[in-house]
Amino acid sequence: MKRKLKIGLFGFGCVGQGLYDILCKNDHFNSEVVGICVKDRNKKRTLPPEMFVYDKWEILNNDDLDLIIEMISDTEEAYKIVTAALKKGKKVISASKKMIAQNFEALYTLQKQYHCSFLYEAACCGSIPIIRNLEEYFDNEPLKSVYGIFNGSSNYILSKVYNENLSYSEALKQAQELGFAELDPTLDVGGYDAANKLSIIIAHAFGTIVPPDQIFTYGIQNLHQAEMDFAKERKLKIRMQAKAVKTSQEKLAAFVIPTFVDVENPLYYVENELNTTLIEGRFSGQQQFKGKGAGGHPTGSAILSDISASLYHYKYEYKKMEYHENIIFDNDIKLKIYIRYRSKESLSALDINHIHLQAKHGDYQIAFAEANLQNLAEFKDQLSHEDIFIADLSNLKIKLDSTLSTSPSEYLQNV
Ligand code: HSE
Repeated sequence: MKRKLKIGLFGFGCVGQGLYDILCKNDHFNSEVVGICVKDRNKKRTLPPEMFVYDKWEILNNDDLDLIIEMISDTEEAYKIVTAALKKGKKVISASKKMIAQNFEALYTLQKQYHCSFLYEAACCGSIPIIRNLEEYFDNEPLKSVYGIFNGSSNYILSKVYNENLSYSEALKQAQELGFAELDPTLDVGGYDAANKLSIIIAHAFGTIVPPDQIFTYGIQNLHQAEMDFAKERKLKIRMQAKAVKTSQEKLAAFVIPTFVDVENPLYYVENELNTTLIEGRFSGQQQFKGKGAGGHPTGSAILSDISASLYHYKYEYKKMEYHENIIFDNDIKLKIYIRYRSKESLSALDINHIHLQAKHGDYQIAFAEANLQNLAEFKDQLSHEDIFIADLSNLKIKLDSTLSTSPSEYLQNV
């Protein structure tokens, strides 16, 4: 009989428990969770105390283990665990998107140096098999864009506020109770979690390492009833879109931004904690994946698939990084944006063009404008002011009619 696969786990939160349950229900898998390392000694657990250890070295130094699975939310500790395990030649699986995105280059180098297997399908879009598809299926095809909804919690909030008129804070509370949100939900609603996933996906899709802090990231914290009314009146929805797009043969832009979408847009139909990824290849055309992006079982199922892959010694080859494209990241792309603001002074610092006033909502003005992503990135602090909200309109067939356009200064005089 084949020897049991011996596994050491780090973390027993929503994902850890989801995975444990899946492993128990998949008994043909012939695996055994030998120990689970957790931080809090006093927390009540669903398993007997002898399953848990509190010193990471008890797991890391156990030479009997075949596989280490890391699913904790402390980014620094996750990095220490993963790097220590890789240096010991262990097979490692991780779900820590922030840790992987922030340390991508170092982790890539380590894998090459130690010839070890480090898999992280669960780090990007929960149950959607995106990384392995990019690695194995799209490894040779030049891609034009990869985009979608990469965060379940913010999509849950946008859906509940729009469909059920829930307040933003009630919807966020539900997302937390259902185990979708991060320990620090700013990561979800601020777009940072989606940016971490986008950064990882870019490396596999385009062969370029773009640290997440270089990706323009704008969240939904300033979302107001005005946006909901604006969307409903026009039969639109708001989605937090994460997008990487080639702007020329050698250049790539990437951003995370709330986006108005109409019925023709595939993002329109993605509700609650569902995620979607759309891959547009030069030859294949567009393909879409849609599935649960958060939660214990969906994320655990991605880890299960990685466990299965590691059994046949599967490793990422990073083919696009190794052999193919040499793509430069810059944010030289123009977006059509919706901008809501209270005072025209709050706009004056922004370098935006072709502003057209569209509507008023209480004390707020709503305008359409054209902005270069580089400028938006430069003025990120002003855009975070609670009296401003921006969203992407580029997907809609809205014309910023040049005959009506004015320079920002003329516009500001006329408002
Ligand atoms: N907080 C994340 C989300 C969990 O809401 O998508 C899955 O990565």
